Amino acid sequence: MFNSISKRYDLLNRLLSFGLDIQWRNKLSDQLAKRDNMKVLDLATGTGDVLITFVKRHTSIVQAIGLDMAQGMLDVGNDKLARLGLSNTITLQHGDANHILFAENTFDNISMSFGIRNVEEPVQVLKEMNRTLKSGGHGLILEFSMPDNALIRFFHIFYLRYCVPVIGWVFSGNYKAYKYLNQTIEDFPYGDDFCTLMQTAGFTNIKRTPLLFGTATIYQGEKE
Ligand SMILES: C[S@@+](CC[C@H](N)C(=O)[O-])C[C@H]1O[C@@H](n2cnc3c(N)ncnc32)[C@H](O)[C@@H]1O
Repeated sequence: MFNSISKRYDLLNRLLSFGLDIQWRNKLSDQLAKRDNMKVLDLATGTGDVLITFVKRHTSIVQAIGLDMAQGMLDVGNDKLARLGLSNTITLQHGDANHILFAENTFDNISMSFGIRNVEEPVQVLKEMNRTLKSGGHGLILEFSMPDNALIRFFHIFYLRYCVPVIGWVFSGNYKAYKYLNQTIEDFPYGDDFCTLMQTAGFTNIKRTPLLFGTATIYQGEKE
């Protein structure tokens, strides 16, 4: 599905979030565990925007690797890295977040933005993040969530169910892909329930930062 929308993915991200996706990635990058000579991994990296934000804002990153299952998304990402002159710092490679092919204690930070609700076993992915992080490293998840306020929640669900699929269809030609978005968002655990999943996977000092009335949330956990 992501291969079929890869060429319009970045444009639709900007449109559907009214440009807020940029601010959200900046906030995610503020929550990296700050170290010298940092190695970071981004799961479900898509077209690489999370890593581009990280390396622009943190000069101490020496290696940044993005993994994704959709080659079409990686191809768009690699073209973008070449245009920005970042191909030496950021490497995008085909890979499954369920089985990260790196050794234990490899990365200072591992992120996953708008990806975990697409996997069948989120705890398995969180465990893999925990395994491959160094001690004290941060696991960071940015994901859609549901606002607590009933009125805002009503408008959020209305936007997801009825506006997003139409805008997605107009700009990408793929109605199903953007209908799928609202189904996965409404069904996915958020808030304290998601923090519990992070705890189950072995993370400690778990914090959550709601964004835009709780329509999205950053979850941060530390490896002991
Ligand atoms: C909504 S996009 C998010 C892309 C990017 N992280 C962002 O914030 O724009 C979700 C991505 O997750 C990828 N994905 C889904 N399941 C995956 C898995 N098991 N392992 C790696 N990537 C996966 C898809 O191919 C897609 O590129």
